[in-house]
Amino acid sequence: MNRRPRRNRQSSAIRAMAQETHLNPGHLVQPLFLVDGNNIKDEIASLPGNYRLSVDQVLTEVEACMELGVQSFIMFPAVAESLKDKEATYSHAADNFYLKAALEIKARFPEACLISDVAMDPYSSDGHDGYVENGKILNDRTLPILSKMAVAQAESGFDILGPSDMMDGRVGAMRRALDEAGFTETGIMSYTAKYASAFYGPFRDALDSAPKAGDKKTYQMNPANKKEALIEAALDTEEGVDYLMVKPALNYLDVIALLKANSNLPIAAYHVSGECAMLIAACQNGWLDYDKAMPETLLSLRRAGTDVIITYFAKDFAKRVGTI
Ligand code: PBG
Repeated sequence: MNRRPRRNRQSSAIRAMAQETHLNPGHLVQPLFLVDGNNIKDEIASLPGNYRLSVDQVLTEVEACMELGVQSFIMFPAVAESLKDKEATYSHAADNFYLKAALEIKARFPEACLISDVAMDPYSSDGHDGYVENGKILNDRTLPILSKMAVAQAESGFDILGPSDMMDGRVGAMRRALDEAGFTETGIMSYTAKYASAFYGPFRDALDSAPKAGDKKTYQMNPANKKEALIEAALDTEEGVDYLMVKPALNYLDVIALLKANSNLPIAAYHVSGECAMLIAACQNGWLDYDKAMPETLLSLRRAGTDVIITYFAKDFAKRVGTI
């Protein structure tokens, strides 16, 4: 044998030199669930260790993450049912607590990167990402609402906006609205290939945002499809997107690899709530070792071609592992 791959695995120093993929806190984005009020830290039952936080608590959490090297945050609002309506009016209201929280976080931590969520579902009395009429999700009727939401978020200091709604043409509509309002520097991280997945359950519990009727299959992608992700990526790119995202992550590593191979834009993956919950549950049962399984999982996303990993384990990785 003149080829012995084991030679490159002999010691930790040798393994470090031969290591192809690396992961550090700079690659990670920590999701945060915000709720109106003060001194609220309300654990999400289906996602242990994650909380709905009022802004004072969020500031503490952001500070702790920043000290560990996690500097990017994706924020979601848990909105009171009484503020929801068909038009998601509260999403761009002047007194919106989520927008005010972003201003406060940016004032305290100007170097933090804040990523928003652009979709109607947290604010919609129908619980859908778009405008509903007679049971149908109306694409073009939704776009002006998303554009208003986008401009309000840019005004509130968000660095990057995250359209998660899957309406056609939303990136272009948002880009035009942002540029017209003078926000040429505000980025867009599009949920390019977002699948109609069963793995969003704990997130919908956190926001109480599940659809009141029907499902999201007329706008989110069919989990059976892969080439369609290239169509979505081409459209987002033409429309001026800054990052392409695949969501969920682990069951869609092939889609991540495909977009990485076909685009020069940075690729993000959303390691979603259900994917994290599965691992937490197995570890809580003593079936898996968290300190080994969690980093291996995140590393697999990097190996598949992910530049930016959105994961509920961001802070924990930085705290317990640091860098791989
Ligand atoms: C809503 C949105 C969802 C997630 C992010 N933005 C849920 C959905 O589409 O129903 C899911 C994230 C997660 O499960 O962690 N537009």
